[in-house]
Amino acid sequence: MKVTLITGASGGIGEAIAHAFAKRKNNLLLVARNSEKLNLLCKKLRSEYAVEANFISADLSHSNAAEEVFETILARKWEVETLVNNAGIGSGGEFGTRTLKEEMDQIQLNISSLVAMTQLFGNEMKVKRAGTIINIASVVAFAPVAYMANYGASKAFVKTFTQAIAQEYKPYRVHVMVFCPGLTKTNFNAAAGLESEAGDGLGLSYEKAQKILQTPEEVATELMRALDKKKIVAISGSKNSFAARLLGLLPSQWIAKAAANRYRKKVGWISK
Ligand SMILES: NC(=O)c1ccc[n+]([C@@H]2O[C@H](COP(=O)([O-])OP(=O)(O)OC[C@H]3O[C@@H](n4cnc5c(N)ncnc54)[C@H](OP(=O)(O)O)[C@@H]3O)[C@@H](O)[C@H]2O)c1
Repeated sequence: MKVTLITGASGGIGEAIAHAFAKRKNNLLLVARNSEKLNLLCKKLRSEYAVEANFISADLSHSNAAEEVFETILARKWEVETLVNNAGIGSGGEFGTRTLKEEMDQIQLNISSLVAMTQLFGNEMKVKRAGTIINIASVVAFAPVAYMANYGASKAFVKTFTQAIAQEYKPYRVHVMVFCPGLTKTNFNAAAGLESEAGDGLGLSYEKAQKILQTPEEVATELMRALDKKKIVAISGSKNSFAARLLGLLPSQWIAKAAANRYRKKVGWISK
């Protein structure tokens, strides 16, 4: 059976992307940790759209998780025609204040597992001369973000990695796109511990940033539109596109400094 595989599909943007693909009659294979949520979502997608929907529960912050997911899919004889690497976790605040394990787990989830999934499923697609890979980055991928250093850099990696392999995969007729959402109202801030002053300092408060805030459904609609246009780099929403373009014009060191100053001012930072 041909499937669209979406990681991080148990909620937020991933769940909205699952609905968008199901609406187009794609059979789905969802991956995340919370099997209860995934099971409920699969039932909903089956009844709402009359598609096949299955799930694999996996923690992609574990180093061998991507390979295990790949092996499970091979054993079940599912064929991944579209892969959406959406699972990711944020973080913020002064670098060095979270545990080293938290930093490393974030890199494993946001970068290493995404690279592994891309290689494993990408190689199959290359042989078949068909397939689509969508990697979810962020608007923060366009500049260094002080006080969000690891997360921002992980998304910058996703962006440049994806842009590069999009060109490498072209001769194999495998389409690769990096999609960059801006601030979206999901569980992201809560999962990243950014509902506090750190989130405020970074300008990520859902209440205070209403003008740029998108819903996961809006983001999924933009993603499908970008996919239809065969884009390689796409940004969700005109305001985020403008912001990304502006970030590209300014010196990156200036942006990092401005972000640091704004953060320190907002949280009333005093050197220890
Ligand atoms: N929300 C925003 O403002 C925003 C902006 C730009 C980019 N993004 C990016 O968009 C993507 C989706 O984020 P979201 O806003 O939808 O966040 P979310 O609501 O927190 O959803 C994250 C998804 O990833 C899954 N996930 C988290 N840790 C995982 C792990 N270790 N292994 C497997 N799955 C895991 C979660 O499911 P389980 O908990 O069940 O594992 C959930 O389904 C992320 O890559 C994020 O960086 C978000």
